Amino acid sequence: MKIFLDTANISEIKKALDLGILDGVTTNPTLISKEASHSTFNEIVSEILKTVPGPVSLEVTSLDHKGMVDEAMQLARLGDNVVIKVPITAEGLKAMKMLKEQGIKTNATLIFTSNQGLLAAKAGASYVSPFVGRLDDISEYGMKIVDDLKTIFRNYNFSTEIIVASIRHPMHVYEASLIGADIVTMPYSVLEKIITHPKTDEGIYKFLEDWKKVKH
Ligand code: E4P
Repeated sequence: MKIFLDTANISEIKKALDLGILDGVTTNPTLISKEASHSTFNEIVSEILKTVPGPVSLEVTSLDHKGMVDEAMQLARLGDNVVIKVPITAEGLKAMKMLKEQGIKTNATLIFTSNQGLLAAKAGASYVSPFVGRLDDISEYGMKIVDDLKTIFRNYNFSTEIIVASIRHPMHVYEASLIGADIVTMPYSVLEKIITHPKTDEGIYKFLEDWKKVKH
């Protein structure tokens, strides 16, 4: 399973890269806005794109397909690792198809049903991002869509990869990995949580205490 960080914060990205387990990054307008007090959009994304060796999703904000494609063409020029995040709407589907024809990778975002994921795959999206946490927030079982999409893509031999998005806690990562999702994109806070365990810390402390009793 590939691990992406869901952030536009460069220091979080560098810390995750240092761990040696980071495969890519996803951003969205909200995440970019959190970093925008001292830097422009171009400054923020240029640094991310040159720092991350893997795919980096950047989202378009136009609502019509022509505007989406124009934005995507400009964003794609920023780096070879740019993936264009396009919301799953009728206009978004048209844009995904046109961008596929231009050889530009897309990530269909704001996926809340498996039918939306199916359409995005048919339109040629490289990735689909089901938002599991936001579904859980409204008392639906978000991970069910990931499971369903896995089956649907297998049924029809789609090469589209599933990015489990809107991750809230370690159990989402656990469930996604059991289902066999291709990618999980998580906030840095969740990455930190899945590294640590109190029994690991306790065990290290005890070993070090006992080691002091050994003559060297
Ligand atoms: C996905 O790519 C989105 O950026 C993200 O996972 C949304 O998560 P949220 O529901 O925590 O905002």
